[in-house]
Amino acid sequence: MRPLNLCINICSGFIYEQQITMLLLRRTVQAGKHGRSFSASQTLLSERKGLVLGVFEKEGEEGGLHLTEAAAGFDQTLSGKLSELLKISGPTLKQGKSRIFYGIHKDFPCVAVVGLGKTTAGVCGSENWDTSKENVRQAMSAGCRLLQDLEVKHVEVDGCGDAQSAAEGAGLGLFQYDQLKSKKKNKVTTQLHGSADSADWQKGVTYAEGQNLARMLMEAPANHITPTAFANTIEEKLAPHAERVTIHKRSQAWIEQQQMGAFLSVSRGSEEPPVFLELHYNGSPDSKQAPLLLVGKGITFDSGGISLKPSPSMDAMRADMGGAATVCASIVTAAALKLPINIIGLAPLCENMPSGKATKPGDVVVAKNGKTIQVDNTDAEGRLVLADALCYGHTFNPRAIVNVATLTGAIDVALGSAATGVFTNSDWLWEQLQKASVMTGDRVWRMPLFQHYTRQVTDCQLADLNNVGKYSRSGGACTAAAFLREFVTAPHWAHLDIAGVMSNKDEVPYLRKGMSGRPTRTLVEFAAGLVHKG
Ligand code: BES
Ligand code: ZN
Ligand code: ZN
Repeated sequence: MRPLNLCINICSGFIYEQQITMLLLRRTVQAGKHGRSFSASQTLLSERKGLVLGVFEKEGEEGGLHLTEAAAGFDQTLSGKLSELLKISGPTLKQGKSRIFYGIHKDFPCVAVVGLGKTTAGVCGSENWDTSKENVRQAMSAGCRLLQDLEVKHVEVDGCGDAQSAAEGAGLGLFQYDQLKSKKKNKVTTQLHGSADSADWQKGVTYAEGQNLARMLMEAPANHITPTAFANTIEEKLAPHAERVTIHKRSQAWIEQQQMGAFLSVSRGSEEPPVFLELHYNGSPDSKQAPLLLVGKGITFDSGGISLKPSPSMDAMRADMGGAATVCASIVTAAALKLPINIIGLAPLCENMPSGKATKPGDVVVAKNGKTIQVDNTDAEGRLVLADALCYGHTFNPRAIVNVATLTGAIDVALGSAATGVFTNSDWLWEQLQKASVMTGDRVWRMPLFQHYTRQVTDCQLADLNNVGKYSRSGGACTAAAFLREFVTAPHWAHLDIAGVMSNKDEVPYLRKGMSGRPTRTLVEFAAGLVHKG
């Protein structure tokens, strides 16, 4: 007779924990074909170690099981016990559904098995992502979180044939910003189950850490992440890569010298000094190789200024430095991956606050390139700080310019959190970004840069440009992009409006509620894709 094993089906949301624990305390479980026996209760109490495994849906066979290589190997060490338990414990695990088995293996008191969907999923032309990768991210994230809730301390994760996506799912899924809470979530360490694909696993860990750095910066309160604190944090994160990195934390005096009148018009209402953060990552063996230029909007708090925002949800504007956070985090990640490419990162960092010194609606300011701007709405401040950063960025003769900004509420109306809106003058650049986003699942969608919108910002009473379109909110994301274009002469430029993807409720299943850090992984993948392209 086979030894009786124990299973808890959590599909229905009920965990019969008490019952099972009692059974565990009484029973000694046989350790499969190795013939060793162990006390499940002892293992459970002394080691909080878990395992997450994946299982595919078998094509064309209702109820059929297709274990991943790792799950099949594990099943073999248990003489087929795992597959047997999967069959008797309930219906076939559909994509994203999970089940936990307790006490079936001496090394792993808790084993979570999660559905990976169909083996044939792959790249989906209509969804613009790789469904298989998304399924692996989602499954490994769900499995790790289940074990985290059980206070498991260390989790081994199935590579599911795509160890990078598995590591991303685990790393992103477990992240929680609880630094400022007394009661913290159980800290879980993860490792790849088995040793094959460890390079891919490590890459996924680094990608997830990059996005988590951006999440941390975005989620942190604005009294903690001031412009100065932001710059110091990035400096610290880049310290291990000092050999290939140069950092300049430019002061207000430098910003004034550079005649960045648009940037200064935003920061003048605040007591916090502005910082213009400039990062040089020199990863290419050819130090003269033209750099990729990344520019991120770095408003560490956007109150709207004199055009004050309504107070409900104003707290979310602590993440208005999401462009700077994702850009800087992607450079930290590129450095950790030692990508052989040169990247320059620029982040104009300041607060947008109302005060007696603040810019007033109707004021006219002068940008670095001499263009005059009528500031009719002080809440349209992102385009002002970016205008000067873009002018400055051109002096490095970059091979491409990508700016990233939580720029407009209008992009959220247009696309929601499904994709970052991309406005670009370059089909080549669009292709590179789009290709990268299919791999990462953090999608992009192309938006128009018509003259139609340009006319709406150049038709201005007092100056060369107005900082808001003349038809107010209509096409707001497009008029903002048209405004930025007035500060670009480079042939390969893209503006990424990330306001819609700034935060996550439950749309991306492998990100918990909170600031998303999107699209850091897409930026890293995009930069990696440029490595062999001149
Ligand atoms: N930071 C906001 C945009 C934003 C909105 C980001 C929601 C994330 C979530 C930006 O500075 C802003 O306020 N834009 C205005 C522009 C308008 C005044 C022309 C907007 O979108 O309403
Ligand atoms: Zn604003
Ligand atoms: Zn803003």
